[in-house]
Amino acid sequence: MANSKELLLWCVVLVCISGLTEATEKAPSVQVYSRHPISIGKENVLHCFVEGFHPPKINVTLLKNNVEIPEVKQSDLSFKEDWTFQLLTYVSVVPNGKDEYSCRVSHQALKEPKIMKWEQDY
Ligand SMILES: *[C@@H]1O[C@H](CO)[C@@H](O)[C@H](O)[C@H]1NC(C)=O
Repeated sequence: MANSKELLLWCVVLVCISGLTEATEKAPSVQVYSRHPISIGKENVLHCFVEGFHPPKINVTLLKNNVEIPEVKQSDLSFKEDWTFQLLTYVSVVPNGKDEYSCRVSHQALKEPKIMKWEQDY
């Protein structure tokens, strides 16, 4: 028979780990901005910066007129002292004054995906 003391210890460890994970579940905050001031017809880089989330599993999608933009780039996932994570997703775009861009984030701490529009100020 398995050592019941050992079994009990593992149960305690597992409960602690899952408790910790749950306690630190945090929803991401999302910021959408461009690298350069917007100028119509001029190449720019659209950034979606997501931070303050936990656990690290996250899906970040950039949308152009509500259609997913393929082949976006992503920074390495990094974390801060408080164990929350941050991630930068970006893609080069050429604003034409009509296209609408947004960033969609899904994460387990969000009931439904969060969609942030890129507010283009000319
Ligand atoms: C991310 O997307 C994949 C594939 O669509 C899905 O299986 C997964 O559950 C998503 N993860 C999150 C955190 O939403």
